[in-house]
Amino acid sequence: MSQLRQIRNLALIGFMGTGKSTVGSMVARHLRFQYVDTDALIESRLGRPISAIFAQEGEAWFREQERQLVAEFVTCDPTVFATGGGLAANEENLASLKQHALVVCLWASPETIWERVKCHSHRPLLQTPDPKASVQQLLVKRIPFYRQADVLINTEQRSLRQVVQNVLHQFQIAMTAHPSRPGTLTVLL
Ligand code: S3P
Repeated sequence: MSQLRQIRNLALIGFMGTGKSTVGSMVARHLRFQYVDTDALIESRLGRPISAIFAQEGEAWFREQERQLVAEFVTCDPTVFATGGGLAANEENLASLKQHALVVCLWASPETIWERVKCHSHRPLLQTPDPKASVQQLLVKRIPFYRQADVLINTEQRSLRQVVQNVLHQFQIAMTAHPSRPGTLTVLL
């Protein structure tokens, strides 16, 4: 059954290290939209870093915080959301985001992701005996979810500016084509 989508926001999904937060904040600035980073919002509301939340409450509890945030987003506009890497690996979250946002997945290969994240120690899911293998395993599990994005953008062999332009371009197409919001969107590049 198809559901009418009223796209007015933009949600970036994708694995850790694909650049969602950096790209999201730049895209929001260009569009003059609000910017929400789900990890930063959870950290500020709870007054604890994600690593402490995982250690003290466990992953399932953290996922529930993400789920509640996503439910809140239905009433936000106009906003760019940069989501934590596991947030979209959940059918309910994906369906909820799709109601109001163009869902764009930033993609990179496991090798590239590993190169980007290996020097960082703040990601609890990579605090394993073999974090490189964890990247590979988690990514494989999440591919079926990430593939459901409206747009998939490969961040490899593209500069940050090119990725940002690509996201803006895709959003502009979606907004222009969408009957609920006739007219063009002004994008400042
Ligand atoms: C997670 C990714 C992290 C953060 C948490 C869990 C994941 O966000 O939400 O550590 O499950 O992939 P980033 O994708 O911003 O690193």
